[in-house]
Amino acid sequence: MSSVLPVGGAGSEPRLGRIQHVALTTTTPLAEVGEFYSHWGLTPVDTGEPDSSIAFRGRGSLTHAPHHIVRFLAGDHVGLGHIAFGASSRGAVDALHARWSSAGVEIRSEPASLDELGGGYGFDAADPEGRVLRVVTEMETADPVPPGAPLPLAITHVVLNTVDIDLLCGFYVDVLGFAVSDWSEHQMVFLRNGTDHHTIAFNQAAHASVNHVAYELDSVDHFLQSVGRMKSAGVEPLWGIGRHGPGNNAFAYYGDPAGFVPELTADVQQINEPGWIPRVWRRIPSQSDLWHLAGPPSAEFRAAGAGSPDPNCHPPRWTPSPPNSA
Ligand SMILES: [Fe+2]
Repeated sequence: MSSVLPVGGAGSEPRLGRIQHVALTTTTPLAEVGEFYSHWGLTPVDTGEPDSSIAFRGRGSLTHAPHHIVRFLAGDHVGLGHIAFGASSRGAVDALHARWSSAGVEIRSEPASLDELGGGYGFDAADPEGRVLRVVTEMETADPVPPGAPLPLAITHVVLNTVDIDLLCGFYVDVLGFAVSDWSEHQMVFLRNGTDHHTIAFNQAAHASVNHVAYELDSVDHFLQSVGRMKSAGVEPLWGIGRHGPGNNAFAYYGDPAGFVPELTADVQQINEPGWIPRVWRRIPSQSDLWHLAGPPSAEFRAAGAGSPDPNCHPPRWTPSPPNSA
C-alpha cells in the first residue's frame, strides 16, 4: 500500500496525493451495476439521487479512507467523469492550481468548496485529451471498518488509453509531477506520484478511453479470497489470475456491466529509491505474468480494455515547452 510523498508545506513542492475516487458514466441501469459491485466487495454510499448516480466506499485503511472510491453516473455514453486526487490542505490545492495555471493547463473550475458528494475544497482541470482531473482536500471520510475482511481497500491505479503515449507521459511528468516507473515496450508507461509503482498508466491505443480501474486488497490471500468471492457469484476473470512483471502486482481483470474493466490487485511494488531507473519490459507472457498462470491477455480482456471512444475526450492539445537551453 502506498504512502504519499510530501504534499505542500514549507520547503517542498505541493504534490498530488492518492486517488480519492473515480467517477464513471454509464448507460447501464444502475441497479445492475450496483449488484456487480456489491459482489466486488464494496459498500454502497447514499448519493441522495439513486436514479442518477450510485457510489461505493472501500474498506479503507487507517491512513486512507475516502468518502467513496467510485461513483457511477447514469448518462448517454460510457466514459470517464473524473479522477479525483487528494491534496493535503487548501494551501496545497491552491498551490497546485497556481502551478498548473501558470503552466497553461486547462482549468475547468476554480478552487472552491464543492457542492458534491462528500464535499471538500478543490478544482477541476483537464489533461491534453480532455480527461477531468480533480484536486480535492477536506472531503468527508468513511467511518473506519475493522481490518481483516478481504475487501477492496481503495483504488490504487487507473490505466488510460491514449492516442499519443509520449505526449501524455510528458505532460503527466513535466507538468503534473509524476515519475516514470517502467515501460512495457513502447505500448504502456507506468507513472507514480507516491511509492506505489503506478498510480496512472497510459496505454497506446486507437482512441482515448478508460482501460481499467484497479482495486487494491491488502494481501495476496485477500486477493485470492476476492477472486473466490466473484467465482461464487458466477463471475470469472477476463484475464488472470497472475502477477505482472512491471509493478509486481497480483492481477485479475473482470468485465463489469457498466462497460468498464475493474481489476483486483495486491502486493503492488513500492518504489522508494530516488535514483530509480525505469526498465523497459518485453510484452511476452512470461513478463506479463511472473506466475506463468494467466497466459497472454485474452481477446475478451483486450476488447473490454479498449472500450469505446470517450466522447468527452478529444485529440491531444498540448504544446510542450521547449527544453531549457541554458
Ligand atoms: Fe492494473
